[in-house]
Amino acid sequence: MNNFTFCSPTKFVFGRGVTDHVGTELAAAGHRRALIVYGQGSVVRTGTLDRVRASLDAAGVAHVELGGVRPNPEIGLVRKGSELAKHEDVDIVLPVGGGSAMDCAKAIAVGACYDGDPWDFWAKKATVEHCLPLAAVVTIPASGSEASNSCVISNDAEGLKSGCTSELIRPAIAFLDPELTFTLPPYQTAAGVTDMIAHIMERFFSGEPAVGVTDNIACGLIRAAIDAACIVMEDPENYDARAELMWIGTLAHNGLAGCGLGIPGKRDGDWSCHGLEHELSAVDPGITHGAGLAVVFPAWMRYVWQNHPERFLTFGAEVFGIEPVDPEVDDLSDIDEEITPERAVHDAVEATIDELQEFFVSMGMPSTLGELGIEETDIDRLIRGLRINRGERFGTFQSLTLDDARAIYKSAL
Ligand code: NZQ
Ligand code: ZN
Repeated sequence: MNNFTFCSPTKFVFGRGVTDHVGTELAAAGHRRALIVYGQGSVVRTGTLDRVRASLDAAGVAHVELGGVRPNPEIGLVRKGSELAKHEDVDIVLPVGGGSAMDCAKAIAVGACYDGDPWDFWAKKATVEHCLPLAAVVTIPASGSEASNSCVISNDAEGLKSGCTSELIRPAIAFLDPELTFTLPPYQTAAGVTDMIAHIMERFFSGEPAVGVTDNIACGLIRAAIDAACIVMEDPENYDARAELMWIGTLAHNGLAGCGLGIPGKRDGDWSCHGLEHELSAVDPGITHGAGLAVVFPAWMRYVWQNHPERFLTFGAEVFGIEPVDPEVDDLSDIDEEITPERAVHDAVEATIDELQEFFVSMGMPSTLGELGIEETDIDRLIRGLRINRGERFGTFQSLTLDDARAIYKSAL
């Protein structure tokens, strides 16, 4: 087990009705003036925003608002929000929404404490030294941003979508009210489930040796996510299944699922698939992050598995109950060809990747880049973004070159 630092300082307030406790929690933490950040209207339509406002009013916490955050949030609104936060002298930033509202809010919290252009942090020209406190009301389990140390922002003018990582941007409080997620469209539910599973797999497939405790947490979380997803796709208002997904989404990305699997001093996982996906939603901000991952992850798996087949065998066995056939034990009388041990491993790994992809597709996720509107002629732009964001080589399970990345994209067309 590799050395690690696990820091999850967020206070989680979880369950039915916690949306109405936002004000008392913020007041108890000493906050007096909040900037509410929200998306393109779902929290207005569902009444969630009104509940948060009322809760703040009742607790004597003043508030100003910035709405209109789009999926794959853009730096323009971050600049506006940073100025607003400075001008209004807020002492906490309070996103009400999903990863996009939360990341926009994180970026605003950083920008509000900085004299230069907030994009400097995503252009790697500045490192985060100061940040306003954050609390988050989560309306979609997906990004895990409510407890993560990362923040992803797009810059349309530069055709980029880039990440910034800092311990300072982990929210202090996260409100996780599963009932808020009843209104999610099936596609967003599915994309969220895909994203949380991807966050666990990025860590599981880090390329480092097995860590029993972490592997069991990881595979258990994925099994629970698949079970709960199958329920909510049929029954969107099933509270317990929604609640499971909400908590899994958080645990998938607060660092717990990577303890001991990272290389000390580096990230706790491979993160190639996130790199490959972020370029898709940079080229077309209409692409939902989880949907991009549903295409990219299986393609990456097929490309790299031979580096560490044992990790894929563990994953297949623990998540899907897939084991390589064993001529000593299994009845192979129906099979004409000889099943060598290598062939048995190959078939088990292929079956595992197929099973994962079929699960994504069963929820309504795409399996090809074409379904996302990405064509072969777009690949040069994807590679350009990767070069800026990831350099000439990236990933730890297999150190990928940009030619490898091109091959993975092509295999997914
Ligand atoms: O904008 P509104 O109107 O609120 O609608 C949203 C949006 O259209 C809708 N929605 C959210 N909650 C809803 C709802 N609709 C009905 N009922 C509800 N309860 O869902 C759509 C997607 O929302 P968004 O916030 O974009 O989704 P998600 O949470 O998947 O966030 C995606 C963003 O997070 C980034 C992604 O790259 C992407 O930009 N990520 C952030 C990470 C982090 N900070 O740690 C890690 C992730 O890997 C990811 O990269
Ligand atoms: Zn993600």
